[in-house]
Amino acid sequence: MAKRALTGIKPTGEPHLGNWLGAIRPALELARDYETFYFIADYHALTSVHSAEVLRRHVRDITATYLAFGLDPRSSFFYRQSDIPEIFELAWILSCFTPKGFMNRAHAYKDAVAKNEAAGNDPDDGINMGLFGYPVLMAADILMFNTDVVPVGADQKQHVEFARDIAERFNHNYGRAFFHLPEPRISASVKTVVGLDGRKMSKSYDNTIPLFLEEKALQKRINQVVTNSQTPEEPKDPEQSHIFSLHAQLLSPEEDKVLREKYLDGGMGWGMAKKVFFESLNEQLRIPRGEYNRLLAVPAYLDSVLAQGRERARSVAMPFLENLRNAVGIR
Ligand code: ADP
Ligand code: TRP
Repeated sequence: MAKRALTGIKPTGEPHLGNWLGAIRPALELARDYETFYFIADYHALTSVHSAEVLRRHVRDITATYLAFGLDPRSSFFYRQSDIPEIFELAWILSCFTPKGFMNRAHAYKDAVAKNEAAGNDPDDGINMGLFGYPVLMAADILMFNTDVVPVGADQKQHVEFARDIAERFNHNYGRAFFHLPEPRISASVKTVVGLDGRKMSKSYDNTIPLFLEEKALQKRINQVVTNSQTPEEPKDPEQSHIFSLHAQLLSPEEDKVLREKYLDGGMGWGMAKKVFFESLNEQLRIPRGEYNRLLAVPAYLDSVLAQGRERARSVAMPFLENLRNAVGIR
């Protein structure tokens, strides 16, 4: 049987180039070797998105984005977390096997506390129980489907380790391997994508290149990437250029070599560097952009894809949960 890979996507913003290269593209590549589960972690998003309209819009955007980049909902499982009530029941069961100390040590919670302390506020200021218990819900997402590998960014590794640890405690208590033990998978080839200002591209820094801008707007945005004051004739160090670093992630190793040489030889002005980057990116986004716009215009179709995903995922989750209810003595 093929191994299972599962990943959750938090619908918290307009998808940008960093999301595609860092998360969407590598996640979709897994479908070649694994049985894949992709889901929209909308109840995780509710820990921070408190506007109904914004949450609804982000869920639609993310659904259309994954489909536009070629996710096949017939061969992969593709569903919305909130559509699978079994996940929330499992989260409760798991929370009864989770030491509170784990949650105290969770990075997201600790960072929030540290920020509060630095600002001289109450340590738990603005921290809701959803954020505090976030890793337990994530463990339920993962353990529900007997996941073997969880492709995540480095910041999520600890959460997968929690899931594994909680699963072990449960298995040990009831003397049977009810849960598979999941492994985090951090792809070495995934690099941090830089934003317009050279920091990590992130919606929190307002330095992103949104994926589905129209051509003109995309070109304008790319023109805002910071460069130094070297003249067009001067040879340029590709390693020091944000434009090169962005462009390289769209290229094959051979194409990378050719572009690198053009930078080093001189004669590649920043205007030209931006133009060729725009052309590559625009070419790679042309089809997904068309598909994304087409899909957003038919929300009923997006709903039907998620409705089918819900049925498929629940057909796995329902018997699995029933077995766990028996195991703990609730049935
Ligand atoms: P943001 O930083 O814009 O809030 P998210 O935290 O919502 O982005 O990221 C969603 C996914 O996209 C994560 O898996 C993350 O690893 C990936 N990602 C986001 N920004 C980048 C980036 N600049 N480079 C590589 N991957 C990224
Ligand atoms: N916490 C992940 C993030 O912020 C999203 C997520 C929720 C997830 N549940 C998951 C990722 C299960 C992998 C597996 O990006």
